[in-house]
Amino acid sequence: MNKSNRRSTLERLLQSQGFGARKFCRSLIRSGGVLVNGNLCEDHDEVFETEELRFEVEGFDGVWPYCQHAYILLNKPVGYECSRAPKHHPSILSLLPDPLRERDVQPVGRLDVDTTGLLLLTDDGPCIHVLTSPRHAVPKVYRAVLAEAAGQDLCDQLLAGVLLKDEEETLAAEACRLINPALLEMTITQGKYHQVRRMIAAAGNHVSALSRIAIGDLLLPEDLAPGDWQWLDARSMLLAGWSP
Ligand code: URA
Repeated sequence: MNKSNRRSTLERLLQSQGFGARKFCRSLIRSGGVLVNGNLCEDHDEVFETEELRFEVEGFDGVWPYCQHAYILLNKPVGYECSRAPKHHPSILSLLPDPLRERDVQPVGRLDVDTTGLLLLTDDGPCIHVLTSPRHAVPKVYRAVLAEAAGQDLCDQLLAGVLLKDEEETLAAEACRLINPALLEMTITQGKYHQVRRMIAAAGNHVSALSRIAIGDLLLPEDLAPGDWQWLDARSMLLAGWSP
């Protein structure tokens, strides 16, 4: 049995995946509402190994892979807050199905309400810690639509470092290039409040739209529509800088 493989009863497995309390999972199973790897299972006490296990559960769309921790990539749309207790806009958690919320997945860092793009969510606390800790300096790549046409001097300033209000030291981009005079691609390794917008403002321009397109070597899939999400496997998480 491989290290991440476990054995447990079906009702406990379903509960661990966020489908509800044990009693609820038991009644779902006994009423014929659960397929395991495509086969009906009505015995809540039947024991399964978790490797390659997949559920289809009445009332929950799709096929649900068993995962010890959930790793999710969301294409964040404009107008959502990265908070469990949002103040002025809906929470990005409202874009996820109930079992993921029940598992208490949390965003890995935050994007502003107006920023779009790649957002990771997980219920793996150490993963959140590593990917957001300044010590690990995970690179994050953003594309910024600029309010004013810019030249190489904007990139030069951002690469050299700019001083933000309330910061003691200058912050520099790890990489920076103009895709065209109104579109800047910039990599940062820190995660300060409104950092990209504030850095570009400190360099004399203004961001009119901002999107995150990569974390580490993990790219936002081009075919994932804003508001949609997908599961991530261990290989993808490794690209983002985390090994489960
Ligand atoms: N920098 C910003 O200004 N906003 C974000 O959402 C992320 C980085």
